Amino acid sequence: PYMTTLDRRTDLARRLRDKYGLQDFFIIRGDADESPELQQELAKLMAEEFQKMLFDGAVISVTGGSTMANVGKYLHPADEKLLFVPARGGLGEELGNQANSIASRLASATGGEHKVLYAPDNVGESALESLKAEPSVKEIAELNQQSHYVIHGIGEAFTMAERRNVDDETLAGLKDSGAVGETFGYYFDKEGDIVRKVKTIGLQLEDLESKKAILAVAGGSSKKEAVRAYMKMAPRNTVLFIDETIAEFLLDS
Ligand code: BG6
Repeated sequence: PYMTTLDRRTDLARRLRDKYGLQDFFIIRGDADESPELQQELAKLMAEEFQKMLFDGAVISVTGGSTMANVGKYLHPADEKLLFVPARGGLGEELGNQANSIASRLASATGGEHKVLYAPDNVGESALESLKAEPSVKEIAELNQQSHYVIHGIGEAFTMAERRNVDDETLAGLKDSGAVGETFGYYFDKEGDIVRKVKTIGLQLEDLESKKAILAVAGGSSKKEAVRAYMKMAPRNTVLFIDETIAEFLLDS
């Protein structure tokens, strides 16, 4: 039977819901690696759906990344009182891609407020302990525990490791452990098992279950293995934003 492209994507989303049992799937056309325009479409779709979920007093944990950096462009001033909290400190990425920057961007787009986490994420154990005792840092940790939503990107493991300039030893470790994906500082293998985590003050994996929803975004064929693995660890309250290329890969594998 004849199907429009939109019907086809609605159908893909339905089949993905049936297969994976997650809260919802939103799909854009094509392969986002192939054009910057598609990257924008993905960010726009996420922004529109996110905007519908907002309520007065909502607290939102946000991560960094180039995909998340675009989301703010498509948000509108909101009537609701909102608070954006960085899910992570600095992870060694370019400033514009860090969670702090994104939180501030989303806040200015919606007219909401935001917090800043003044802490690097890749510090040693003892520095971490003393940072955690800082009231301003503690406040962010608590807000990440209590937040209603998490909005985050999913990355390909080695793209992320390189972007963060990790040392050779870490890189070798990631290779040995078969890392395929990364999300908010956690690297995972194709089974969705965490193979490395950057010790952090920010959002913890355990915090996810209690959220109203987790909005995760990834586009482009280079991320298909990462997203497939992510599906094995994603809590049921996840809403996934992907492109058709990834959607079809998830259904075929
Ligand atoms: C990081 C986030 O900043 O960006 C990760 O902490 C995410 O959650 C990554 O995996 C994705 O980046 P991009 O640029 O591919 O959207």
